[in-house]
Amino acid sequence: MKAVELKNGVYWVGAIDWAVRDFHGYVTPRGTTYNNYLIMDDEITLLDTVKYDFADITIKNIRSVVEPSKIRHVVINHIENDHVTSIDKIMALTPDATIYITEKGRKGLDRFFDISKWNIKIVKTGDTLKIGKRTLLFIETPMLHWPDSMMTYIKEEKILISQDGFGQHIASAVRFDDEFATCESMSELEDAIIDYYANILMPFGQIIKTKIADLQKMGLEIEMIAPDHGIIWRSNPQKVLQMYMDMAGGKANLSVSIIYDTMWHSTEQMTYPIMQGIKDEGVECKVIRLRATPMSVAIKEFWRSRGTLIGTPTLNNIMYPSVAEFLTHLRGLRPKNRIAAAFGSFGWGGGAVKEAYEEIKRMGLETVEPGLQILYRPSLEDETTCYEFGKEFAKRVKEYHQKFQ
Ligand code: FEO
Repeated sequence: MKAVELKNGVYWVGAIDWAVRDFHGYVTPRGTTYNNYLIMDDEITLLDTVKYDFADITIKNIRSVVEPSKIRHVVINHIENDHVTSIDKIMALTPDATIYITEKGRKGLDRFFDISKWNIKIVKTGDTLKIGKRTLLFIETPMLHWPDSMMTYIKEEKILISQDGFGQHIASAVRFDDEFATCESMSELEDAIIDYYANILMPFGQIIKTKIADLQKMGLEIEMIAPDHGIIWRSNPQKVLQMYMDMAGGKANLSVSIIYDTMWHSTEQMTYPIMQGIKDEGVECKVIRLRATPMSVAIKEFWRSRGTLIGTPTLNNIMYPSVAEFLTHLRGLRPKNRIAAAFGSFGWGGGAVKEAYEEIKRMGLETVEPGLQILYRPSLEDETTCYEFGKEFAKRVKEYHQKFQ
């Protein structure tokens, strides 16, 4: 690999991770990239570093443009390990460079490295750094998605270095959206955006809306959005901005995800007539069995759909463990603007459906009650009840969906 020029002396010098499949628990079937950027100006500037394992690759890519010892400034937009753990290797090559970072970033960096040997300058929103012909503008984005996070805008090039924001976990031979749309497909890129947003940014919708509005108020012209993961938006950055605004505003498909697990296939048998009832109401339906599906995929499908049905057998009077795990994970993501109900089979006293509702209500989601419980295995009569349950839920999803139109 070598550096890839974005625009007039601004280069991608990052690394492609073809092999990562588990990104702190988030399944990444397409791998990812750790993007960082080099600006060739009177004072050469590096924006972000990469994960430790890829330090030698980014150094080699930098070297394809300039000797790393000539770097004068290093901007650290975010201190999560995938972006900052090669900084000591880079600083060893240019020990007199100055690091630009938020105050919260500096505090975090101090926990990972001995920072006493480095020149560090704290920056906040509105601060600028003139590096020659170009000016960098720093924009703090706290909780997008860590307290330390910020973005950097290269004024003269109209490039927003957006850190995790607008990124995707895609390892690809190409760097730009127009190239990806040609060699792969735009729908795959959109899917990766939704996947990333659902699994990483779902809790921060209100902050995202406010921050995008702030960027608009600042009057920044954005011709390119260069995130620290995946594909760079050069042909249509407005598309990903609009996708973020839509998702932050509660956009979802008029569809239902049935997310379930099963012990001896009884809860599973309930899903078929329920699915049919949903479809017969003209609502799309996707069925996801936990334990057969990565958690991050189940989260994405929950996020895509306006309605979700949680299916859980009762085990020892409580929810099935994989369903409890899913709901706990989902609660941490603070979902909004979705409607849910629960169903499942039981043998003795039941309890799982009740517990599923308690968890759904803790999240503050809209519910359709009382759900549906079937003793042992659904009979033919029970299957009709399941079908009607699916139909009724789909009707309620359609009504609820109207609120967002
Ligand atoms: Fe890609 Fe928050 O790190």
